[in-house]
Formats: sequence, C-alpha cells, structure tokens
Amino acid sequence: MSKLKHNIIFLEKISLKHIDLGWLEWVNNSGNIKVLNRPPYRYNKKQLLKYLKDLKKSGDLMFAVRLKSNSEYIGNIRINHIDYHNRNCGYGRLLGNKKYIGKNYGQLMLYKICDYAFNKLRMNKIFTPIYSDNLRSLASNLEFGMRISGHFKNHFKKKQKIQGCILFRINKRRVQENKKKVRIN
Ligand SMILES: CC(C)(COP(=O)(O)OP(=O)(O)OC[C@H]1O[C@@H](n2cnc3c(N)ncnc32)[C@H](O)[C@@H]1OP(=O)(O)O)[C@@H](O)C(=O)NCCC(=O)NCCS
Repeated sequence: MSKLKHNIIFLEKISLKHIDLGWLEWVNNSGNIKVLNRPPYRYNKKQLLKYLKDLKKSGDLMFAVRLKSNSEYIGNIRINHIDYHNRNCGYGRLLGNKKYIGKNYGQLMLYKICDYAFNKLRMNKIFTPIYSDNLRSLASNLEFGMRISGHFKNHFKKKQKIQGCILFRINKRRVQENKKKVRIN
C-alpha cells in the first residue's frame, strides 16, 4: 500500500450539520456499534444533539475530518480527558466513510490527533483504551507506533457482558521517530 501524505486531510469543528452529513449513519453502523465504548450504542438525532451539548460542557474537543481534495467528510476525532497540568489527554476516532476503511486513513487520523495534541495543546502524552476484540483498531494503533501501557480485565460493560481493554499511549518524541516508518509522510 502506498504512503499517504499527512496533509491531505483537515479538521473542522464538529457541529449540528455533521449529524446529517454522515455522523448519524456511522454511529448506527453495526460494525461501529460493536466497538464504540459508550451507551446508548444506537443513536437517534435527538441523542446526538444531546451528545453535542454534553461535549460543550465536558471541555473535550471534537472535530470532523475532511479530505482537502474534495471536502469529503470521512470521520470524527475526539480529544478528551485533557489535563493541562500534567500535559496528557485521551483520544478517540471514528473513520465512518466506508470508502476509506482499510487504506491507512485511520493512521492519518492518529497523526492528526498527535499533531493537534502535541503541537497545539502542548501535551506530552496521549492515551486511549481499546476493547480487546477491536482488532482493526488495535492493529492500526500498533502499526502507528502506539505503545501498550496495560491490560485491564473486565473493564467495560458492553451490553450484558464485561469486556477487557488494552490501554495505549504515545509521546511526542516517538511520533517523530516513527514518522518515517509508518505509511504516512
Ligand atoms: C479503527 C479505525 C479508525 C481504523 O481505521 P483504518 O483506516 O481502517 O485502519 P488502518 O488502515 O489504519 O489499519 C487497519 C489495520 O488493521 C488490520 N485489520 C483489519 N481488520 C483486522 C482484523 N479483523 N484483525 C486483525 N487486523 C485487522 C488491517 O489489515 C490494517 O493493517 P495493515 O495496514 O497492516 O493491513 C476504523 O476502523 C474505525 O473507525 N473503526 C470504528 C471505530 C473504532 O473502532 N474506533 C476506535 C475506538 S478505540
């Protein structure tokens, strides 16, 4: 697979308009329902509107990701648990637009998250928990160079089951070291 250029996508602040542009459809896609780790698992428009309201109160940052070439909306990223004192934060991503799945766009989104967190927010480290059965996300994070910080057994309640997760992290230096190795440049 050929390398993707890191500057072919851009971020736009998430807003109401994104709900109908793809967001609502993506969060209700059966593959995504299995891997996103918060109830209600299925959303209607009213619930996404509430999600946006709660987002404002939370202090988290969320962006729609678009392609520069044609403005196509491909997914969302979220930066959460922002700790300005200790300079670390969490992250999440959803590559919803099916045309772009499995083509490294997920790693491109990781790169954009790192760029924002390390260069704009001046964080030192970012982290995320991933369900241990979310093989695509695990593979994508590992390939990007994320490091495993720990395994949590029985950590999330997912429908009626308790599910384990793996905690990933990366710091600024490692992103720079890895830039040449991953399939983005
Ligand atoms: C996770 C996500 C962003 C990854 O995006 P993507 O562009 O499809 O993934 P990438 O191309 O970066 O990498 C996927 C890797 O996983 C591998 N993979 C895919 N399915 C797999 C499976 N079932 N088992 C093991 N590896 C798998 C692919 O082969 C690929 O590796 P390769 O490049 O060496 O071939 C995207 O799938 C997504 O948004 N999923 C739903 C939401 C989600 O899970 N978010 C993260 C929550 S923690």
